[in-house]
Amino acid sequence: MIVLGIESSCDETAAALVRDDGEVLADVIASQVALHAPYGGVVPELAARAHMQNIVPVLEGALRDAGRTLDEVDAIAVTNGPGLVGALLVGVQAAKAIALARGLPLIGVNHLIGHLLSAQIHRAGAAAAQVSYPFVALLVSGGHTALYEVQSPTAMLQLGQTRDDAAGEAFDKVAKLLGLGYPGGPRVDRLAALGNPEAVKLPRPLRRPGSLEFSFSGLKTAVAQHLRKSGPPQGESAIADVCASFQRVVVESLVEKSIDACRARGIDRLVITGGVAANKGLRAHAAARCGPEGIALTVPSVQSCTDNAAMIAYAGACRLMAGERDSLELDVFSRSPVLGVVPGTVKRYRSQKRL
Ligand code: KG4
Ligand code: ZN
Repeated sequence: MIVLGIESSCDETAAALVRDDGEVLADVIASQVALHAPYGGVVPELAARAHMQNIVPVLEGALRDAGRTLDEVDAIAVTNGPGLVGALLVGVQAAKAIALARGLPLIGVNHLIGHLLSAQIHRAGAAAAQVSYPFVALLVSGGHTALYEVQSPTAMLQLGQTRDDAAGEAFDKVAKLLGLGYPGGPRVDRLAALGNPEAVKLPRPLRRPGSLEFSFSGLKTAVAQHLRKSGPPQGESAIADVCASFQRVVVESLVEKSIDACRARGIDRLVITGGVAANKGLRAHAAARCGPEGIALTVPSVQSCTDNAAMIAYAGACRLMAGERDSLELDVFSRSPVLGVVPGTVKRYRSQKRL
């Protein structure tokens, strides 16, 4: 079975063709980074308009790259939340139009479930690193930072999440404070490799044993206070020291809580995914800590961790194989209290006190 996936939840218009075993046949992304950079963040109305312009060329590009036609596609999967409503509507309307015209099944996909299953997709030239179930997943992106137990492609339990900012949001805000521009995560990452992580003393957030929650807004405030007290860092090496010190605290918090979650659930498989999983410091520290703990770590390729439509197509294939599909009434949602409302309802882990 070949599924056409569409993703337009934020600032990337993406389309992909993926087989139900996770093999990626084509994966096209039109990035809007340059469009939003002058504003220091994503402008929802501009994003929706750019999706309108990009959606048809991106869909045509995916079919062309795979050397396929719509006749060879068996189903259409599309992100229908969480995300920017105007942006989501563009992808969902395109998906509905194709599904209606071609008589194909339509499957709505929760963007977060797409990320959680991103370790199960494999791209040309890369070995299939499919992780067996259940596994613990740390989803760490611009909008979300949370831990899950992924029991099957369609059953997930949320173990804990951030109380305030997502880690990616903290990276972007600290980059802004340092005048590094948007998007900040990759720039902080590059500079952190050049700096001294001991240079600036910053608080370790929520170190309480047993808690699988995160908190990053206090850390961002501590960086702002440091800059106010000591003045703007002079020169690249002083900026690099702030980046390295900040990144180390974030990375240690993410990795320690992920290991705690594996211990609490008795699971020795960990997947780290989402845009922040592209961070070199996070990848290196997670690998160094998981080995001695006996935890098998999987961090998908950067292309699979950041927003893409291949993970959406694959998650859609999983829903379809589980007998689920949506009607042309499929609606979009901007946010949901746990992980998803429709599709992919996820229970919250309720026994944290006993950890
Ligand atoms: O998953 P993603 O592409 O989009 C969302 O669903 O949010 O994640 C984007 C986030 C941004 O906050 C970006 O700054 C961050 O991921 N990011 C990074 C790195 N690359 C992207 N953060 C730290 N280090 C990186 N190398
Ligand atoms: Zn994402």
